[in-house]
Amino acid sequence: MRILLTGVTGQVGRALWQPLAEFGTVIAADRAALDLSQPGSIERALDEVRPQLIVNPAAYTAVDLAEDERDLAFRINAEAPAALAAWAAGRGVPLVHFSTDYVFDGTGENPWREQDEPSPLSVYGASKLAGERAIARTGCPHLIVRTSWVYAVDGKNFLRTIARLARERQELRIVADQFGAPTSARIIAGAVTGILRKQLAGQAPFVGGGGIVNVSAAGTTSWHGFATAIVEGLKARGVPVVAERVIPIATSDFPTKARRPLNSRLDHGRLNAVFDVTMPDWQVALAEELDGFVSMVAA
Ligand SMILES: NC(=O)c1ccc[n+]([C@@H]2O[C@H](COP(=O)([O-])OP(=O)(O)OC[C@H]3O[C@@H](n4cnc5c(N)ncnc54)[C@H](OP(=O)(O)O)[C@@H]3O)[C@@H](O)[C@H]2O)c1
Repeated sequence: MRILLTGVTGQVGRALWQPLAEFGTVIAADRAALDLSQPGSIERALDEVRPQLIVNPAAYTAVDLAEDERDLAFRINAEAPAALAAWAAGRGVPLVHFSTDYVFDGTGENPWREQDEPSPLSVYGASKLAGERAIARTGCPHLIVRTSWVYAVDGKNFLRTIARLARERQELRIVADQFGAPTSARIIAGAVTGILRKQLAGQAPFVGGGGIVNVSAAGTTSWHGFATAIVEGLKARGVPVVAERVIPIATSDFPTKARRPLNSRLDHGRLNAVFDVTMPDWQVALAEELDGFVSMVAA
């Protein structure tokens, strides 16, 4: 099977690269090979590669910058997935795409279910929602993996930012009224691989059984809880950390260009029942990532 994987320089793409090789030949398309800001070029590129499975973690992910770059965010997050899906629909090729908790407005405290009504607060969230809907409209066999608060040992993410700040500052001030599940790219890749293993063993992957599925770590915390766990985890692993206090602040104390949901909890009912996948707790996944981070820093 020929598998086209985008976003290979990003967190989720990098984490998926090796595991996807279990299912066939992975054609890793970085931005130079397939520029998603040029949706008009996608059909020809796909005709050349002729993938039998498309996995698309590439996205415009600069949440605040998107407020100023609406057109670019929509081209990459909505028009490009639409073009991938249109090509896939014509040939019955399955598409695995990724989306976000930021499609929701974050009201209430209940975990969001896949069928709950989205109402994005930001351009980024709106562009991702438009991508979801465009894919569904094409009718291609698809799975849209909604995830949240992604991090890895490399790349640009909260874990790396806190690890740096913890070595520079005695006091960190971190938002404590946004709740969700920090999710390592590694456990997203594990869940997607588990789903694909079963789907690809059947006759027609995701035909009549795909749609949207939430994939995030189990459990809930705030950014403050996540930062505290990172700092404590680094200290426990002997990393020289100067941070003594992680102070909880409100979202209103840390203004950002884009508004973010206060409640990013994602419900796992469909993931468990339909796809038979159970996610590890966020603290277990963080411990695994911190072990990797510490050995990377020590090397
Ligand atoms: N990060 C999060 O906290 C988070 C939370 C919820 C959902 N998600 C979703 O999960 C998925 C994976 O996110 P991630 O954290 O892995 O993202 P990431 O680390 O920011 O990586 C984004 C990837 O997209 C590529 N890309 C951006 N613009 C492109 C273009 N014009 N053409 C081709 N490739 C382009 C980037 O390539 P370059 O290296 O060349 O820029 C990079 O490989 C995305 O769909 C995202 O919306 C992420």
